[in-house]
Amino acid sequence: MERIRVDLGINSYDIIFVWDKLGDMAGELKKVLSTRRIMVITDDNVSNFYLETVKAAIDPHYDVRYVSLTPGEQSKSLEQAQRLYTKALEFGLDRHSAIMALGGGVVGDIAGFVASTYMRGIPYVQVPTSLLAQVDSSIGGKVAVNHPQAKNIIGSFYQPKLVYIDGKTLSTLPDRQLYSGLAEVIKYGIIYDGQFLNWLEERMEDIIMLDRDSVLHCLKRCCRIKAMVVKQDEREAGMRAILNFGHTIGHGVESTTGYRKYTHGEAVAIGMVYASKMALDMGMIDKDYYHRIKNLIRRAHLPTEIENLDTKALIQAMSKDKKAVDGRITFILPTAVGRVGIFHDVHPEKITKALA
Ligand SMILES: NC(=O)c1ccc[n+]([C@@H]2O[C@H](COP(=O)([O-])OP(=O)(O)OC[C@H]3O[C@@H](n4cnc5c(N)ncnc54)[C@H](O)[C@@H]3O)[C@@H](O)[C@H]2O)c1
Ligand SMILES: [Zn+2]
Repeated sequence: MERIRVDLGINSYDIIFVWDKLGDMAGELKKVLSTRRIMVITDDNVSNFYLETVKAAIDPHYDVRYVSLTPGEQSKSLEQAQRLYTKALEFGLDRHSAIMALGGGVVGDIAGFVASTYMRGIPYVQVPTSLLAQVDSSIGGKVAVNHPQAKNIIGSFYQPKLVYIDGKTLSTLPDRQLYSGLAEVIKYGIIYDGQFLNWLEERMEDIIMLDRDSVLHCLKRCCRIKAMVVKQDEREAGMRAILNFGHTIGHGVESTTGYRKYTHGEAVAIGMVYASKMALDMGMIDKDYYHRIKNLIRRAHLPTEIENLDTKALIQAMSKDKKAVDGRITFILPTAVGRVGIFHDVHPEKITKALA
């Protein structure tokens, strides 16, 4: 068992990394929760695989209720949040009770959102089970639900008391979801850590085969980078924006294709390649580095381009993104191996050229 501290003053917490030890979580929960009552929020896929293990681990120590959501993004809604508040009331959760998110980013985001608002905020813990959730969404305290017209638009910053990551849970994750999570993994190398990028180039296939040591090293490295960035900028006033590398175009790709054609990670992969192409065109990186990025993304079984791209619609979607300010698009672009810069007001021509 290894741990990383996310250092956020009174909101600090540990991320714990284990392998095939979901059944050992009670000891860690006891260190951070003073309650006897926990509501576990999960989804039907995850509960299928892990509910029994989690029950055996915590039922002897806590008074627990389980609520399962229909898997998928459509469950991240105010309607489902309302259902969860009702369950919480029926179950008698009070201000000292806790919520546990057991699942991917959808479960983590809505469970965190409910925890942040129920009785003006009760403690919650994250037990992320998808790669995306383990390296990204469970850390940093962004919690949200979707509005029918916009993703993640209703939410806040609310840090968990603990993140408990069992890398072995990735063995049941569908391949396409694993690859999607790898987009965020590659992102961390490009934005912050050239050495990690080298390591990923050596170990990509080992990670995909879920070699224990490779996966654990990868998870720790990613979480350390995210924790460091979040520590420096908890509420995204500046530096945290580098985590959006590949996301400006990625979100545009998702929205212009109706959130159906690509997973989030696939869209981000495409976005990272196009952003790197912009950097290449602008003379900030060389061809060699651009091809390294593209190859690594390809080896993670992720797309590197889209066919029949509607450039106009894409640029329009990007300027409407919630991260755009007054319609101006900000880009995170690579400037050297393991380094990126934040560029405001990039001329649309540069975007069009890279997309061509
Ligand atoms: N809060 C943040 O900072 C942040 C960051 C990035 C993404 N997100 C959010 O995360 C969500 C996407 O997360 P996701 O990709 O994990 O999606 P998800 O939660 O929908 O999980 C993907 C699929 O994998 C299944 N699954 C999860 N773990 C499994 C396991 N171990 N075995 C078998 N199946 C498993 C789920 O049931 C689901 O069908 C989006 O809503 C996005 O907005 C939030
Ligand atoms: Zn992302």
